[in-house]
Amino acid sequence: MVVTFLVFLLSLGGCTENKTDDIKKPEQARSLKRAFADDFYVGAAINARLISEEDSLALQLLRKEFNSISPENDMKWENIHPAPDSFYFDIADRYAALAEDNNMFALGHTLVWHSQLADYMNTVSDTATMNVYLENHISTIVQRYKGKIDAWDVVNEALNEDGTLRESVFFKVLGEKYIAKAFKLAAQSDSDAKLLYNDYNLCVPEKRGGAVRLVKTLQNEGIKIDGVGMQGHWGLKEPSLAEIENSILAYSDLGVKVSITELDITVLPNPWDLEGAEVSQNFENEDRMNPYPDVLPYSVQLQLAQRYHDIFQLFVKHSDKIDRVTFWGINDGNSWLNNWPIRGRTNYPLLFDRKFHPKEAYDSILSLISEN
Ligand code: XIL
Repeated sequence: MVVTFLVFLLSLGGCTENKTDDIKKPEQARSLKRAFADDFYVGAAINARLISEEDSLALQLLRKEFNSISPENDMKWENIHPAPDSFYFDIADRYAALAEDNNMFALGHTLVWHSQLADYMNTVSDTATMNVYLENHISTIVQRYKGKIDAWDVVNEALNEDGTLRESVFFKVLGEKYIAKAFKLAAQSDSDAKLLYNDYNLCVPEKRGGAVRLVKTLQNEGIKIDGVGMQGHWGLKEPSLAEIENSILAYSDLGVKVSITELDITVLPNPWDLEGAEVSQNFENEDRMNPYPDVLPYSVQLQLAQRYHDIFQLFVKHSDKIDRVTFWGINDGNSWLNNWPIRGRTNYPLLFDRKFHPKEAYDSILSLISEN
């Protein structure tokens, strides 16, 4: 593994901060979606500007490199269903059309989640109302996009770190059966769509145990679940490759497919004892927490490239178990990690820099595929 990477580094020639000129020529012919066409879809989360085709550079890169998309925010409950009787479909419709026009695999993200939930949902306290709201939400949305959205994150982040179920409003009102209900409603609304359970920290043994139990419970009840989405908000060192591999195997052993759904690798210090990707957490910015405001040192760029190389090597090894690998954003400039868990930092978690140029991490991934 290390040897392959060294060969790749040598092949780069004299390593300087800016490699754009060196790689311009081969870059024209290269593409992530082409490189991994036999392995899995390669996707990106896209924001409203890109969906509305207002960000032409991002759109150009998306078309060249990716064959799957995820809506970063525009299908979340607070945006798509802001009041009990009103849906807002404009951006989601454009999103579905973009996928269709470009022949891309389209994810629906996400139907049931405690975060970015419409306010009225947080005050629901009786079973009847919750059932009506859930049914209306899932049936309306999934039926509208039947045949257009290929897979749904039906339930997002239902687990605590110890593998027990999170006390979300859904859990408080309906108990654990809200999960089965959500999957059933989605399957009834579009029997062809792939249905996923999606969460962060799914490589941590206790939480993995919880996810395995969740999938088995649905399967024992005869409820359709097609996949587990491991979000993949990871660091340069954690989780270990061994835990990532154990997790891919654990989910795949259940007979479901694995997707890496929100991949990004932070290069910044992790504040305090924060773990995972619970989006409600936010902390104060301080200089020591934002060490690379102008440029990422080349040594760290290479660490990032090595990390991406290693995890993609693992993904390729298990490509028979993996349907899709999706990055959470197109380039470093539009990554949510510039503002989470600390606002206003400069992070470098993706394969393309702020000018849409491929980084060393991009080359390191493509070096795994011989014809590239
Ligand atoms: C993030 C978006 O990227 C941000 O723009 C938004 O402010 C908060 O949510 N897990 C998920 C994603 O499932 O929906 C989250 O996306 C990141 C963590």
